[in-house]
Amino acid sequence: MTTGADAAARVLRGRTLSFTDDPRVVGPDRATCGHEDGAVVVGRRGRILWHGAFADLPRAHADAPCERHDGAVILPGLIDAHVHFPQHRMLAAPAHDLLEWLDRFAFPEEARYAAEDHAEAAAESFLDKLVRHGTTSALVFSTVHGNAADCLFRAAQRRGLCLLTGTTMMDRNAPDAVTLDAEASARESADLIASWHGVERLRYALTVRFAVTSSEAQLRLAGALLADHPGCLLHTHLSESAAEIDFVKQLYPWSKDYTDVYARFGLVSEGSVFAHGIHLSERECRALHDAGSMVVHCPTSNAFLGSGLFDIEHLYAAPRPVRVGVATDIGGGTSYSLLQTLAEAYKIARLKGRSFSAFDGFYLATLGNARGLRLDAEIGTLDAGRWADVVVLDPRATPVLAARQELSQSLEDMLFALMMLGDDRAVRAVYVRGRQVAGRTGRHSR
Ligand code: GUN
Ligand code: ZN
Repeated sequence: MTTGADAAARVLRGRTLSFTDDPRVVGPDRATCGHEDGAVVVGRRGRILWHGAFADLPRAHADAPCERHDGAVILPGLIDAHVHFPQHRMLAAPAHDLLEWLDRFAFPEEARYAAEDHAEAAAESFLDKLVRHGTTSALVFSTVHGNAADCLFRAAQRRGLCLLTGTTMMDRNAPDAVTLDAEASARESADLIASWHGVERLRYALTVRFAVTSSEAQLRLAGALLADHPGCLLHTHLSESAAEIDFVKQLYPWSKDYTDVYARFGLVSEGSVFAHGIHLSERECRALHDAGSMVVHCPTSNAFLGSGLFDIEHLYAAPRPVRVGVATDIGGGTSYSLLQTLAEAYKIARLKGRSFSAFDGFYLATLGNARGLRLDAEIGTLDAGRWADVVVLDPRATPVLAARQELSQSLEDMLFALMMLGDDRAVRAVYVRGRQVAGRTGRHSR
């Protein structure tokens, strides 16, 4: 299919893979759309103009420069549905559990973001890491300092990235350096929405850290802001560790459960994104299903912090399937790579007696996350009209991968090995709005 009157800037040629739907629901044949010798035509305005078999390339694009990515897989850019920018350098900080880890490492590191020059440098460093790992869009936690979110928005805008973030709302149970009273944080959020929401490819996410660090007054104000700005997302943490859940019970004795705390303040909606959701009850799953919210699985973080084993099938179970996304959760997470993240998700699924296919995994990291973030009209596939955010992955990038691929019997098997054994070394090239931002240039030839 072709679209628009834009001229082609380049053609990316190689094996292509994109999703039209969830392979778990409609089966891999109906859910995938790709070509062994495929082509993605990128327009000068940064949109995809055409995707199909190279042999069918429309004559209108026949003279555009062609970059060949032989032996690689051309996919939509990967999407990280939950990652903390102020934790970009504090990976691998060991603690007994989440709450100790926050007190010892996360809060002191985040306090440094009061200084704008620190936040500005960190934003660049963070975004460099994302794109080098093939991640072209993300829903990002910032800090309580409005300037930090502002720096991140500006840095993403300079790079033409699709990014969602917001200032973090916290007003209790944390050091003064990382809290702000409820009224002031609501004002800061409203100002940032006015400045950034819908500007180019940027979106605002109302960001409540978690029920532990917000007063009821702050949750109420966050709910009011969400009601006033239904186009914004709500981004928070939910049901991650046992001690956290106990603490929430003490703080909100009137609640039915953790999800109910957010629901009481109007924070459980179709645009709500909840990181973790490891220990959800049947009632909570039903409430999240009814609202259409997304729960984001963060496997490397859950394993590293010892938070628990996410049961993907429990979330998906009929008659109340919950939308699931996948994310790195840097710096509780231990890798920026969504390939490594999917590999850990697979291992956690196995430990729960579950499984999922490589198609399921790549769907989650592309169209699945795009749908949960309400961005699927813009990103997440190689369809004509979407932004040309593209990652080119090399399934034989390392000696270990190359040896394993000698045994690959099918596309799914090749993708499975790539998912389990790949990391940033497998990222051959990354394009944002059709412009290459990382990796090696493809061979210029037809
Ligand atoms: N819950 C509240 N804050 C955080 C955080 O920074 N990381 C993780 N993993 N969980 C949280
Ligand atoms: Zn997190």
